[in-house]
Amino acid sequence: MQLSDRYFARGREFLGTEVPILCGGMTWISNAQLVAAMANAGGFGCLAGGNSPAAILEAEIQRTRELTDRPFAVNLVTIAPAFPEQLEVVCRQRPQYVVFAGSFPNAREVEQVKALGSKVICFASTISIAQRMVRYGADALVLEGMEAGGHVGHVSLTVLLQQVLFEMSEVPIFVAGGIATGKMCAHLLLMGAAGVQLGTRFAVAKESCAHPRFKEKFCKANARDAVSTPQFDSRLPVVAVRALRNAGLEDFSRLQLELIAQLDAGTIHREAAQLEVEKFWMGALRRAVQEGDIERGSLMAGQSVGLVDREEAVADILADLRQGIEAELQAVRSRLLPEA
Ligand SMILES: Cc1cc2nc3c(=O)[nH]c(=O)nc-3n(C[C@H](O)[C@H](O)[C@H](O)COP(=O)(O)O)c2cc1C
Repeated sequence: MQLSDRYFARGREFLGTEVPILCGGMTWISNAQLVAAMANAGGFGCLAGGNSPAAILEAEIQRTRELTDRPFAVNLVTIAPAFPEQLEVVCRQRPQYVVFAGSFPNAREVEQVKALGSKVICFASTISIAQRMVRYGADALVLEGMEAGGHVGHVSLTVLLQQVLFEMSEVPIFVAGGIATGKMCAHLLLMGAAGVQLGTRFAVAKESCAHPRFKEKFCKANARDAVSTPQFDSRLPVVAVRALRNAGLEDFSRLQLELIAQLDAGTIHREAAQLEVEKFWMGALRRAVQEGDIERGSLMAGQSVGLVDREEAVADILADLRQGIEAELQAVRSRLLPEA
């Protein structure tokens, strides 16, 4: 028996996997191929609903089931235009696990999915969201710090660990945001996490369908290159997304400044200006992931990108994390009990 077995127990039992390590759902990236690779290597994958039409999501669920007989989740972005139809797909297909992402689900949606017999996992980026999701009946939480890639909250993982992980024990908590090493996973498990969720490191996996230019950019980037989208004026709210700095991000800043000047001059209505802001990134992640448009596409990445420097097979990433976790737990034991 390894030391890690003790710390894996709660997450393993909840997820039904060998290791309680999740590859987070990533729009356009987490398809059947990546999810099945994760499941077959002993981890847990989340199929991304993202902006997919419902029929494509349904086909991907079926394809994942052909590629693996192990558990996986369907990840739904509650603010996606196709969300209502995707929820209908979930009701038909009854996946074992459903992750609600984007914003948060309402109590009725959580109940609806639980009534199918599926386990519900909800994101939490603040203490109040964590408490509300548990009240609504979430079976587990992904506690995600602002270091993460994609849509992000504004609270750092360091603070969320103290506010949520150390204080709440009702449901298993999987921790995410800025994680890329087994050493870090070991310490999060010691702090009480049931497991961890990574995105950025798996976006660069061999089995990830991301364009070679997208992966190359990730391998070369530093942690400080993954920035959260700026908002310059409360009249023009911006949904925060962490992505690599590129020409598209500079254009977006310029657009906001131009719109603010037009608002001040009274030459544009607030609604029209807001629409311009919302339109800007439409299709931008798909362009980066599928077409390799690294200049003007959206290169969603966590600050963990600074710890990723090569493309590896999913099984090798998991083996490296497992080895790192066990080695660190052993090292901690000998620091605490040098005579043992
Ligand atoms: C390219 C990209 C796309 C993402 N899309 C989604 C998504 O559709 N749904 C979701 O729940 N999280 C999404 N995320 C967040 C990941 O699931 C995960 O929680 C996050 O990447 C963890 O932080 P890390 O990137 O530092 O590992 C995305 C992340 C990235 C990098």
